[in-house]
Amino acid sequence: MDQFYIAILSVLVMSIIWFIKVSFNPGRRTPPLPPGPRGLPILGYLPFLGKNLLHQFGDLARQYGPIYKLYLGNKLCVSPSLVKEVVRDQDSIFADRDANIAALTVTYGGNDIAFSPHNSRWRAMRKIFVREVLSSGSLQASYNLRKDEVRKAIRGVYNNIGKPVQVGELSFRTELNVIMNMLWGGIVEGEEGQKVGDEFREVVIKFVDLLGKPNIADFYPVLAGLIFKMLSREIKKEGKDFLQVLLELKENEDSEMSMSLTQIKALFVDIVAGGTDTTATTIEWAMAELLNNPKAMANVQNELSEMVGLNNEVEEFHIHKLKYLEAVMKETMRLHPAVPLLLPRSPTQTSTIGGYTVPKRTRVFINVGWIQRDPSIWDSPSEFKPERVCAGLPLAERMLMYVLSSLLHSFEWKLPDGETVDMSDKFGLVLRKSTPLLAIPSPRELPLLLDHRTSCMYTSVSVVV
Ligand code: HEM
Repeated sequence: MDQFYIAILSVLVMSIIWFIKVSFNPGRRTPPLPPGPRGLPILGYLPFLGKNLLHQFGDLARQYGPIYKLYLGNKLCVSPSLVKEVVRDQDSIFADRDANIAALTVTYGGNDIAFSPHNSRWRAMRKIFVREVLSSGSLQASYNLRKDEVRKAIRGVYNNIGKPVQVGELSFRTELNVIMNMLWGGIVEGEEGQKVGDEFREVVIKFVDLLGKPNIADFYPVLAGLIFKMLSREIKKEGKDFLQVLLELKENEDSEMSMSLTQIKALFVDIVAGGTDTTATTIEWAMAELLNNPKAMANVQNELSEMVGLNNEVEEFHIHKLKYLEAVMKETMRLHPAVPLLLPRSPTQTSTIGGYTVPKRTRVFINVGWIQRDPSIWDSPSEFKPERVCAGLPLAERMLMYVLSSLLHSFEWKLPDGETVDMSDKFGLVLRKSTPLLAIPSPRELPLLLDHRTSCMYTSVSVVV
């Protein structure tokens, strides 16, 4: 018995010595984990099961400050608003992604750019993407594709004058056609084209929704391998590998691309899913804000009249002159960032952010949705005030400005009688409007863009110019 008490006593004494050593030797002390809500063992923080995760992340930021932790299942997650520390000062540590199981599945195990680890393969793919799609030479070369699609969209609106238009859907189809044209030079025309476009939209929206939806394996990493195999089998079984089909139709394989078929498919997923829904959703939000703010709408249309001219159509070369519209776009992106938590990051080593420890492989969510409405940074943060944006910042996304300016230059827009704009959002990887925006166009000027008048229009434009 004596021996038992001696053992207990020794453990106690050793624990006290260890505690004193750790507490009074600040040089060797590891900073604590960030503060955050208590979760239940194994289940973690339960309110995340509620509807709008983004609003909950905002509430937690308000309560716990610039960095907090929470457990989703048994996965440790951290959400810092100390962006400079994460993406600039310690960028190389935080440049890996924490891809959820859905992202890994649709990108064939992170073979794309967005969910790839930060390595030489990521660098090579990004280089090809920038050179082939985003370089100014490639963008210039593809201008006619964008022009044709924007004109087609405007013509479609003319044909439905006075009837409600689903702005998000129209923008999505236009973006998708442009991207499909840019990637493999083809879309399907006519009614069949509309059908394919609608189906494609559904697939992309399902894709993006899937990417934003939590899966049990994301909270219990030990299940990830199993669920990845199950999901991959399911996708193959349902024949949803639409990129495979499209690649077979693609005529000119670029021989310089030393990428595997899997990588090309994963890259297409990035471009189609990353480039369509984000841009179309932002256009829809911008239009919703403008319909809610008639003074800002009048300012945009006055600027368009002045810079483009009522008898001309918008061209991409006008875009850099549209400073007020640029401010509208930036203010829209501030209030309704398309991807409000960015894509989660994952530190490759344990580090310190804001004086707290962020362990290796924590899931890091940077909540730009919160930062961009933080009352300590923004005056009247929830008000739409394009005037707060300093004009003259670098050129923003061409397509967003081009589609939006063309819709606003060609038409007056109003809401259906007796309706107001519902500005509530629905959380997902892409932050969409809860209810799609319906707006009724009426011509702002003569309908110059109808097919049979195109050549006359060019004549009149050149005369005016
Ligand atoms: C309004 C339009 C867009 C928005 C709001 C948007 C938003 C974002 C965000 C937030 C990220 C993650 C950044 C991070 O976590 O560090 C991202 C990455 C990416 N986006 Fe976009 N995006 C838009 C348009 C596009 C377009 C048009 C394309 C393709 C043509 C595209 C392709 C990509 C790719 C490939 C990545 C991954 C980059 C990497 O991880 O290195 N995005 N985008």
